[in-house]
Amino acid sequence: MLRRLFAGGAGTLVAALMCGGAFAQDTVKVGLILPMTGPFASTGRQIEAAAKLYMAQHGAMAGGKKIELIVKDDTGVADVTKRLAQELVVNDKVAFLAGFGLTPTALATAPIATEAKVPMIVMAAGTSIITERSPFIVRTSFTLPQNTLPVAEWAAKNGLKKVVTLVTDFGPGLDAEKTFTEVFTKAGGSIPEKLRVPLRNPDFAPFLQRAADAKPDALFVFVPSGAGSAVMKQFAERGLNKAGIKLIGPGDVTDDDILNDMGDVALGTITSMHYSAAHKSAENQAFVAAFGKANNGMRPNFMAVGGWDGMHLVYQALAKTGGKTDGEALVGAMKGMKWVSPRGPISIDPETRDIIQNVYMRKVERVDGQLYNVEFATFEAVKDPGKTKK
Ligand code: PHB
Repeated sequence: MLRRLFAGGAGTLVAALMCGGAFAQDTVKVGLILPMTGPFASTGRQIEAAAKLYMAQHGAMAGGKKIELIVKDDTGVADVTKRLAQELVVNDKVAFLAGFGLTPTALATAPIATEAKVPMIVMAAGTSIITERSPFIVRTSFTLPQNTLPVAEWAAKNGLKKVVTLVTDFGPGLDAEKTFTEVFTKAGGSIPEKLRVPLRNPDFAPFLQRAADAKPDALFVFVPSGAGSAVMKQFAERGLNKAGIKLIGPGDVTDDDILNDMGDVALGTITSMHYSAAHKSAENQAFVAAFGKANNGMRPNFMAVGGWDGMHLVYQALAKTGGKTDGEALVGAMKGMKWVSPRGPISIDPETRDIIQNVYMRKVERVDGQLYNVEFATFEAVKDPGKTKK
């Protein structure tokens, strides 16, 4: 009797252990590190909302595994990102690291992805060099050279001769400034001033005054997502719009998250970008409607679409490996993957692991009472020019 009880007990214990083991293996964890608080919190809010919407629409399973999302707030500070990534790998045993709202946070995490052989999906940061920092990095966001090239060509072809550049002084801003300068000056344009503003606590007023004093045809601006409203306000207050100076740049400055509150000063701004909430496709209309419905009417911006496609990559890579979470197999599965995103057709360059996507020329217009980036031309399947030129 005693023996039977003991045997039964041990059996239960073994079953419980096996069950626990099987459970652990049947769940695949995705560590999503984002700035959820601080000056770049809108990026975190947008990406988290998009990732959760993707999971709500596609179910919790991929490749026979249950997907578990673990969201961590790095406040946009690289040292914090790195520590959180380490904890997610060592303690939580995540199969994917994802997110990365700012370039320095992605660069700080790259060595951890390499060492742990964990795929790292960059959903937001846009400096060209990032994907070269680890063979485990795959990007679903964009690069600044990619988004700057079309507007630089547009400027040269549309009668602009003298342009002042104003960029935030870190990786993506320097990439934008370099690409614009190369393309625009090669076409005969001149750049009398190159202005750089700090990333933290920027005061745009003195820079916009200097830009106004140079009397250019246009001001080329790159600021990170969220900072565009302050630029627009100073652009109007310093009278640059009244002086007939055009505002151009990659589309970060007319971010869909804040565009609608900018007012008439934003009208006519010409930008090039991979995503507009006004993109005319069935996929995007469904995305914008579902995103708004799930988030109190919030309009998705270009960060959201990076989060959405990043989750698609997780799901599809697991489907391809049959649920196997070996890092090299997952990255191998992602290389060359193609799909139709809300932004249009996209793919992962098998050589660089960077995104290949359409970049659209857009103009800010009022549509049904709301400000939108209305697309008027398409540059198809653009690879990151920051890499191909090296
Ligand atoms: C970046 O840090 O790479 C970054 C952040 C915000 C943007 C673009 C690039 O809008």
